[in-house]
Amino acid sequence: PSHKGLLVVANRLPVSVIRIDEDSWQLEINVGGLVSAIAGLRDFQVKWIGWAGVIVSDEAGQQSLTKALAVKKCIPVFLNEEIVNQYYNGYCNNILWPLLHYFGHDRHSAGHGYQSLFDVYKKANQMFADVVYKNYKDGDMVWCHDYHLMLLPQCLKEYNSKMKIGWFLHTPFPSSEIQKILPSRSELLRSVLAADMVGFHTFDYARHFVTACIRILGLEGTPEAVENQGKLTRISAFPSGIDSDRFIQVLKLPRVQDYMKELRDRFAGRKVVLGVDRLDKIKGIPQKILAFEKFLEENPEWREKVVLLQIAVPTRTDVPEFTMEKEWKISDMGIFDQSLGFNALCALYAVTDVALVTSLRDGMNLVSYEFVACQDSKKGVLILSEFAGAAQSLGAGAILVNPWNIAEVASSIAYALNMPREEREKRHQLNFTHVTSHSAHKWAEMFVSELNETEVEAQRWR
Ligand code: UDP
Ligand code: G6P
Repeated sequence: PSHKGLLVVANRLPVSVIRIDEDSWQLEINVGGLVSAIAGLRDFQVKWIGWAGVIVSDEAGQQSLTKALAVKKCIPVFLNEEIVNQYYNGYCNNILWPLLHYFGHDRHSAGHGYQSLFDVYKKANQMFADVVYKNYKDGDMVWCHDYHLMLLPQCLKEYNSKMKIGWFLHTPFPSSEIQKILPSRSELLRSVLAADMVGFHTFDYARHFVTACIRILGLEGTPEAVENQGKLTRISAFPSGIDSDRFIQVLKLPRVQDYMKELRDRFAGRKVVLGVDRLDKIKGIPQKILAFEKFLEENPEWREKVVLLQIAVPTRTDVPEFTMEKEWKISDMGIFDQSLGFNALCALYAVTDVALVTSLRDGMNLVSYEFVACQDSKKGVLILSEFAGAAQSLGAGAILVNPWNIAEVASSIAYALNMPREEREKRHQLNFTHVTSHSAHKWAEMFVSELNETEVEAQRWR
């Protein structure tokens, strides 16, 4: 069949790899949001390109891993220790990530080795480009993902200006006043504009990007496109979603039902308030705990009748910013600093009374979608930060809060716990309808089909 080729490029391949010996590897596909989204694209021959998450320094290892990954349609980019340190830990996660989330304004001076980190970021993006170029066939489309690869569109167009390239940002894009702080602000923006289509989770992020191009680069733009030297780049919002059916179905498995029962027994007589986050400043975990404490202070009758469970998954632990103080010792609260498997996580979502998402900034926040998908029998309440992209889509059913306003979050917890079933049902239904009808698969399909048509669009605009 003459299926079109689609190269999906992301920093991380959707697999976990463990080396068994010289030439054998254990691979496990991570069925995250992107994977289920892309899996549904039946009209395309998809190949993934990215880092396998391990440093492989020997030739034999690189060859055997390449071979093993090929079976999963994955092509590795090998990053050495220096690059992982300066590109992934340094530039991506210590500089770009905080800035995109309105944090860490003080980390951008040359005195802190900014330039050398940026040079390695460039080098890494060029390495990704080399692998893409080697695997590219005429007519393929290339879909680049996230802040790790902002220079990739430009690198690729330099190889072949006819390559059709899309770029999607999974984080927020901040106000141009924040983007302006980056010493490399112009180079990054110009490179992203080399893509034919640029996508964001929300309309606000897209608008911020266009404004940055106008104010920082002095270009002309509309809410839908930016023009750079006669080349038009389409800018659009594509809110992502989840594969809700996967969540709904797993709850029916006997072992998941057993686990739900176990959890219900363990928390008998208490309502469960749940937080599920990577241990990351942007998630507002300290703010969440302060709010829960305040709620208990103000509502002592709830003591021992409610528990806050916080899953705080360690992440990017080589970056100092990500090893946060974990000195939270309050009553009626449990913190788990380990990642849960899919079944356990879904069981937990399903027995929860109130999900509490207090992100200070968050591109989308899929946890809120997953909670809603698992709540069709319980009809629990979602308290959701207005600073998460998901607030744009789940605002009708959730209680929206400003996570910096501890008093407001505290009173929202009380409101949610006391909410009558009728109101809970109504709110849940609004969100459930949204989550089940805006799937990850549709998101990918929309992006890819619009990318497919960009040339036509661009001509129409001229
Ligand atoms: N997750 C998981 N195990 C855990 C905690 C979280 O698999 O113990 C998954 C969760 O199901 C979700 C993802 O991690 O799909 C987190 O995505 P989200 O968009 O909420 O935040 P991000 O981590 O991308 O900032
Ligand atoms: C966010 C980013 C992703 C990233 C994920 C996990 O969702 O947008 O690009 O893959 O976090 O972070 P990690 O650094 O472990 O890949």
